[in-house]
Amino acid sequence: MRVPFLDLARLHDSIRGELELALAEVVEQSWFVGGPPVTAFEHEFAESHGRGGAASCGSGSDALTLALVAAGVGHGNEVIVPSMTFVATAEAVVHAGGTPVIADVDPASLLLSGASVAEVRTPATRAVIPVHLYGHVVPFDSLEGWRADNLLVVEDAAQAHLATWSGQPVGTVGHVAAFSFYPAKNLGALGDGGAVVSDDDELLAHARSLRDHGSVAKYRHDEVGWCSRLDGVQAAWLRVKLRHLSEWTEARRRLAARYRDRLPDGLLVPWEEGAVHHLLVARVPADRRDGIAAALAEREIGTGIHYPLALSQQPAMSRWARPCPHAEAAGAEILSLPMDPLMADDDVDLVCGALLDT
Ligand SMILES: Cc1ncc(COP(=O)(O)O)c(C=O)c1O
Repeated sequence: MRVPFLDLARLHDSIRGELELALAEVVEQSWFVGGPPVTAFEHEFAESHGRGGAASCGSGSDALTLALVAAGVGHGNEVIVPSMTFVATAEAVVHAGGTPVIADVDPASLLLSGASVAEVRTPATRAVIPVHLYGHVVPFDSLEGWRADNLLVVEDAAQAHLATWSGQPVGTVGHVAAFSFYPAKNLGALGDGGAVVSDDDELLAHARSLRDHGSVAKYRHDEVGWCSRLDGVQAAWLRVKLRHLSEWTEARRRLAARYRDRLPDGLLVPWEEGAVHHLLVARVPADRRDGIAAALAEREIGTGIHYPLALSQQPAMSRWARPCPHAEAAGAEILSLPMDPLMADDDVDLVCGALLDT
């Protein structure tokens, strides 16, 4: 590939020495599950988002489930989720025992909006999960409005590490936020990982117990929980990468601005300042998308689709489906372009040139 969609090997190679040292220490100290690197990472990650604490766990999907259950969401509670997101956002509601209510997204930003939430809200609505999709931030005034309106706000920040709104980090307006450390995420582990981030100590203690079989003391289990803990090796790896995250985030922002400068207005899904560009997403006519992706592949340029189906079209979600025309139309038109913090400016120019040639 001339311009890969994302080159993790190159990213890791750029900090190979630091990563190898950190991993060697984990092996030497036999820090397998939990342990000092996990505690240290939880502290550092919460601090990077201006939050009191973090409860790490086995994946971003589990972080969402643990956040919902720890916040008291369960049977009989409706939870509003956006129709354009990864399926885990809605799965978590089902795993927590609640009912996902799929709301259409804003036709331009593809994010939840005040209007889209108002449309599906009922007296049984307990919570809303705004997803900071692509690393674009759901406006904080919406989050504040939902909180003021007595909804529990659980931010899905799986794609939005270090993103901000008016300078304030994601995860600081909702009651609780969930992050993913899936390898391709802006802060990615060596495998799966996730974290619940909050200022609410009671909620975090509950999430820590739930991730470890509902345990409150060794071999005492007060409720049925999960086995979803972060490995020492993941935490040690993430601690090293967290030290570089601001620099990589700035690189993503610079590259995204370059894409925007070189492509016609309206071609890219728009973002506001503070976005962290987990994905750089264009919208093209649905009947031309496959041809465009193939033409880019021919020039050795990687692309992806996030996501081809709205939640309302996912077979697994058919019980909760309702028409979501904006998300469904977007699903047929979106095309993710290469975005990698170590991409050269010339790579962006090459992608834009190829796209404009199609
Ligand atoms: C928006 C969103 N929510 C939740 C998740 C789930 O995270 P994980 O893959 O770590 O379970 C992801 C990651 O794929 C995601 O993109």
